[in-house]
Amino acid sequence: MYLYQLVYTSRKKPSCNDKEIEKILDSCKRNNPGKDITGVLLHSNEHFIQYLEGSKDIIKLYDLIKEDTRHTGVVLLSYGPLKERVFPSWHMGYKNITNSKIDFLTDGNFNEKKVFESIIKGEKQTDTSAVNLLIKFFNK
Ligand SMILES: Cc1cc2nc3c(=O)[nH]c(=O)nc-3n(C[C@H](O)[C@H](O)[C@H](O)COP(=O)(O)O)c2cc1C
Repeated sequence: MYLYQLVYTSRKKPSCNDKEIEKILDSCKRNNPGKDITGVLLHSNEHFIQYLEGSKDIIKLYDLIKEDTRHTGVVLLSYGPLKERVFPSWHMGYKNITNSKIDFLTDGNFNEKKVFESIIKGEKQTDTSAVNLLIKFFNK
């Protein structure tokens, strides 16, 4: 099976509270293993960043997620072939990122902070820049 990866960012609606986040994670648990989709979901107070990896069909899941009313302003940042999975055992890793954590993780590394800001602005990313940042956030 050929592997693909996809990264998008979106703005979280204020009504998307912790309970809704729980429901999203339940959907991930229910649906992603059967489709052999792995990845990570990062959220700050205002944004989501999701990285999906799996068959070409991840674009179908993306099309469904895009219509979800719990977020808005969904922007696809990268989609393309992948040699091997970055998060093979994560059917959806999940982290809440606070601003202070961003400052901490990117402390002294101006470039990473720039990448993060560029991601949440919805600017297109090279295949590796967004993923490298996510790997760091998830301590891989
Ligand atoms: C930011 C965000 C990420 C989501 N990620 C996934 C996902 O990885 N897998 C999934 O099945 N649904 C995901 N969803 C939920 C889908 O939009 C949709 O509600 C769900 O797949 C419906 O399936 P269900 O009826 O089994 O819950 C996500 C929603 C949001 C807002």
